Formats: sequence, C-alpha cells, structure tokens
Amino acid sequence: MHPGSPCSRCLSHYAHGVKDVTPSTWVVAGGRTFNPGDPLNVPITLASNFRAGTDRGYSRGEGTATWEALEELVGGLEGGRAVAFSSGMAAAAAVLNLLSTGSHIAFPDDCYHGVVALIDEGVEKGRWSSSRFAGADTASCIEAVLSADLVWLDSVSNPLLTVADVPAIALAERKPGGLLVVDNTFATPLNQRPLAFGADIVMHSATKFLGGHSDVLSGVLVAQDPDVVAALADQRHHGGATPGALEAYLVTRGIRTLAVRMRQAQANAIDLADRLQNHSEILRVRYPGLVSHDTYGVAQRVLDGPGAMMSFEIAGPADRATAFCDALRIIVHATSLGAVESSMERRAGTPGQEHLPPTLVRFSVGIEDVDELWGDIVQALEASGSHR
Ligand SMILES: Cc1ncc(COP(=O)(O)O)c(C=O)c1O
Repeated sequence: MHPGSPCSRCLSHYAHGVKDVTPSTWVVAGGRTFNPGDPLNVPITLASNFRAGTDRGYSRGEGTATWEALEELVGGLEGGRAVAFSSGMAAAAAVLNLLSTGSHIAFPDDCYHGVVALIDEGVEKGRWSSSRFAGADTASCIEAVLSADLVWLDSVSNPLLTVADVPAIALAERKPGGLLVVDNTFATPLNQRPLAFGADIVMHSATKFLGGHSDVLSGVLVAQDPDVVAALADQRHHGGATPGALEAYLVTRGIRTLAVRMRQAQANAIDLADRLQNHSEILRVRYPGLVSHDTYGVAQRVLDGPGAMMSFEIAGPADRATAFCDALRIIVHATSLGAVESSMERRAGTPGQEHLPPTLVRFSVGIEDVDELWGDIVQALEASGSHR
C-alpha cells in the first residue's frame, strides 16, 4: 500500500462515520479499526517483513498498521494524507530533499534553529541557495513565494511566537512549481490548519504537542496533492527515516488527549501571559493572545486559539535568566516543549540562538494548576534577585 493512493483500511474507517466530526472527537475516534474482536487500539506491529500475497511487503516502503493509525489521525486533523517519520527533523529533511539542485529556499527571520542549520548546510554544500524574510511582514512573505522554489513558514514561530498570515501568503501568486510549507508544531492542528488555507505541506515535530509526554521523538508531514504525498513517502522509503513501532503507538496514544491537554494548557497560558506582563520584573511577553503582541491582529484572524507557548524577557543580565530557570521547582528547567509538564529554557544559551535577547525565556505551558505555576514563577523571580 502506498500512502499516496487510496487505502482500503483507511476508507473502511471513514465508512464507519467518524470522518465528519469535530477535532475533539476525531482525536479519540480516528485511527482505529472496526472489525468485531479487534483491539480498541491498533497494536504495536513489530515487523520489517510480511508474508507475500498482499499490498504489504517490507515495512520501510509499505508501512505497518501502527504507522497507519498515526497517519490517519494526523491526516484527519490537518485535512490531508500524512506520512510519519522518525523525528521532526527527519520530516524537514524529507521536504528539503524534494528540491532539485540549484533551487532557492526562503525562510523567516524567526525559525526553529535546527531547520535553519539544515538549510544552511545545504547552502554550504551548493545544493540550494537561501534567503530570509520577515515572518511578521506579509508583504515580504508574499514576495518570497513569488520567487522561491520552497517557502518555509514557521508559524507560530519558535521562539518569538510570530504568527504569519498563512491564508494571505497561500493565496498569493507563487513561482510555478513552488512549494509552501508550514511548520505547525507550535499552533497544533487544533489552532491552525494550513492546508485548508492553501499551503502545500504541513510539518510537525510530533515529539511536541502531538506526543505530549516528553517520551518520544517523531515527525509527520501532511499534504493533499497525491503526487506530493507520494514524493514524501518515497523520501521516507529511500532515506529510511521511518517511525519506530513503539514511537508511532505512543504518539497515537498521546493524540487521544490532545484536545483536553491543549484546552487546559492554553487556558493556563492565557492566564499566565497576562500575569507575567503585569509583573514589574518582566520586560516583555511574546504571546499571540496578548493585544501587545506584534502579530496579535493576524493571530486573531488565522488561529483558533493563541496556544500554549510563549516567551518573555526578565529584567537583569543573562545569568539572572539562567538562575531563574534553575530556581524553578514545579516548572521543569529543560529544552523541548509541548508536554503535559510546564518547562522553561533561556534560549540565547542554545547554540544557534545567540542572537536572541539575552534574558529571553521560552515557556511551554503545561496542564498543572495555574496558581501553583504562578507561585513557582514568582518564587523563582525572587530567588534569582530583583533588578528593578
Ligand atoms: C518548531 C519545531 N520544528 C521542528 C523541530 C524538530 O523536531 P524534532 O526535535 O522532533 O526532530 C522542533 C524541535 O524542537 C521544533 O520546535
């Protein structure tokens, strides 16, 4: 079975009437089989090889039922066909590998540094050229899609939370054959569905909100054009960055609670962003739900919710921000994001992120009690010393 072609297993799921439901129901009901006696959850298939005689042969090319459950779930959420990978970066690499030598990639000023490194590496090796544009400036984005072979949008962006006007950019005239790709990791498909706006490919680090528990690395690409889906599946087949069986199962299991996790985390984030912006030791809060955010107006039009990510700058020197993170007791001082537990990290301390404001802390808001999270922030600000 090729992910780009109709799949009898998937269509039989839809025939059971769970296709046209809300995302809150889909995350629970999608990605299951319906035969009497089936386990409710598609089990972990540990198989590289299958007996001949069906459309399954070798799993690197033809997949397993465990991957397909995950792909059906994410494909249904994003409105396309999904191809699962071993990590978000593996998914990003598969997209870039679609380009012919000499292509031009345009990407925004604020973009996940791993993707930036991958693009830069290709430039150094003479595989493609690249340019950057202001993600908050729709006119620059529109100019980029007119001239680039691939425009990469990181929206909502990591770590400055810039929201690009994806519908306007997707509607703009494109270079013939040009691809518009959106990294939807921060927004999640619950708050933004770029394919419906006209983007060609959506990418997720499923390591983050989709998995939701800091226990798995995973990536997913979703597209509508069967040729693009087939090309991405070929990249996985030939590149070999396949999802692990356990990982695919765990992300599927994580997605079952995506809607309730996001509801709680986002409610916490809305509350905490407001408290942070009113605290005398906080210089600036970047959060799409705040009227003061530079792309608040776009966020209001494009997103269904402001999400559970933000970043803020603390008054004082860089080492105060590090001391603040070290003083946290409930919130975890750690990299990565999108899990049930709240976490924070000073981003300018990360290689490749030195250009960021020195005290910028990225905050992945979890599902804990909001007053206890606030109490933790206040005690860590006090413990790291006052600078006002
Ligand atoms: C926005 C974004 N995109 C892509 C990635 C890469 O994903 P992964 O770590 O799953 O390879 C990350 C990882 O932090 C990310 O934050």
